[in-house]
Amino acid sequence: MSDTKPWYQEAVFFELNIRAYRDSDGDGNGDFRGAITKLDHIKSLGVDCIWVQPMYPSPLRDDGYDVADYTGIHTDFGTLDDFRAFLDAAHARGLRVIIDVVMNHCSIDHPWFQAARADRNSPYRDYFVWSDTPEKYKEARIIFLDTEPSNWTYDTVAGQYFWHRFYSSQPDLNYDNPAVHEEMFNVLRFWLDMGIDGFRADAVPYLYEREGTNCENLPETHVFLKAVRRLLDAEYPGRVLIAEANQWPEDLLPYFGDGDEFQVCFHFPIMPRLYMALKRGDKTPIIDILNRTPPIPPGTQWMTFLRNHDELTLEMVTPEERQWMWEQYAPELRMRLNLGIRRRLMPLLDDDRRRWLALNALFLSLPGTPILYYGDEIGMGDNIWLEDRHGCRTPMQWSAERHAGFSEAARTYQPVIDQPPYDYRTRNAAAQEADPDSYLNLTRFLIATRQGQPALRAGALAWVETSDAAVLAFRRMTEGAPAVLCLFNLSDSVRPGLALPADMRDLLSREGRVFAAKQQIELAPFAAHWFVEEA
Ligand code: BGC
Repeated sequence: MSDTKPWYQEAVFFELNIRAYRDSDGDGNGDFRGAITKLDHIKSLGVDCIWVQPMYPSPLRDDGYDVADYTGIHTDFGTLDDFRAFLDAAHARGLRVIIDVVMNHCSIDHPWFQAARADRNSPYRDYFVWSDTPEKYKEARIIFLDTEPSNWTYDTVAGQYFWHRFYSSQPDLNYDNPAVHEEMFNVLRFWLDMGIDGFRADAVPYLYEREGTNCENLPETHVFLKAVRRLLDAEYPGRVLIAEANQWPEDLLPYFGDGDEFQVCFHFPIMPRLYMALKRGDKTPIIDILNRTPPIPPGTQWMTFLRNHDELTLEMVTPEERQWMWEQYAPELRMRLNLGIRRRLMPLLDDDRRRWLALNALFLSLPGTPILYYGDEIGMGDNIWLEDRHGCRTPMQWSAERHAGFSEAARTYQPVIDQPPYDYRTRNAAAQEADPDSYLNLTRFLIATRQGQPALRAGALAWVETSDAAVLAFRRMTEGAPAVLCLFNLSDSVRPGLALPADMRDLLSREGRVFAAKQQIELAPFAAHWFVEEA
């Protein structure tokens, strides 16, 4: 029954960028002290766990995913004591906290790399992957296609090429070296000892390189990741390990192992298909990808998302679908990055409230643990004139005050959005707090309604046939709780829906509207209904 399920199987997560949230000391950067003052807002959304993005010392060439010290806090964000205070304040509110752990690579500024490049005989030399030529591992694709010509970069100090799957400022660590394993185990222990609730493990498919392969998802990688899980289970039971592996469902399955690797994996392929289905008014992409998703071991879970801090990745679609998605959702070239789209949720939906509601209701009723990206709960916009993915990482819009109430500094780390319709003076949390129909209050309502239904939290899914491609229907079911019939109109025209099998109450109508049995429902454009049988 539901109360015996592991916590992460039924939770809702929230992705927090510390730099973007609230600046407490007037330096223009968000920090842990500032975030503590906003924990009540996060809690009020009805989420259970916060994912804190990289907060480590870093030159921030990849916004902190380029780690220069795995056991510290970036001075912009505070101190280790501030982090501890944040953790305690979150725990006091019943919020769990996980952090990013970037195992695949570090920053070129990390002392390991500095020692390694300076001296061939340094014990740190073998922490990285070197070659005299850029010829090895030719079958590995380049991920940051728009900026990196190769996965090898020549280092003049070292006199050799080093291997990197992401930016050339992020050398990959060498997992053929057992000393690297020990270093990582100690990093994990450091944070787990402090009391964090788990990790979002960044970029895990790329830990090992082998000639003649694409250097992704290698068996050696899984052996190491299982050792990480053993450490958690043996020394820190109850903590969670979440895989960021942008792969097809069948390649994701091994990351769960036999229930002995990750407890949770992000489900990347479903995400672009939600947008595809909504734009086409056709449910087929959603049904196809879920039918292609294999069952996962007991005690594990998928993690689902609509947006995050990165570009909306189109790696897990066909080239034709990618082209179509770019045309539809990123008509201007500046909106595109690598194999994706660097826009936020609300601009992707043309600021259309009906689409926002349909997509969120759909997302929150699919199997998996949902994660929300900060700012999307108030329908924040983006700034495509900022470089890289920074346009989706602008300061949180708290109020109509200067810098959106984010900071008292003269300048913030990035400008707040001040163009309509996403202008902070009109789109902000304070204004939405007061409006019962705001995005903020609708987000709270949707999450609370979902979390109130065991079937939606972690029930099985069964498709319900409809003859209309635009009408998506499925049931979520679990033992001992009411089944929920989820019904969506993915098109912008009125559609005939289903005839309900019994009198049913629509959980998404705030008045608790009841629809009579056998009556054909008319579905408004982008309608979303969650029905339970009327007692
Ligand atoms: C993170 C990105 C980052 C990359 C390299 C990704 O998975 O989400 O933001 O640039 O890893 O660390």
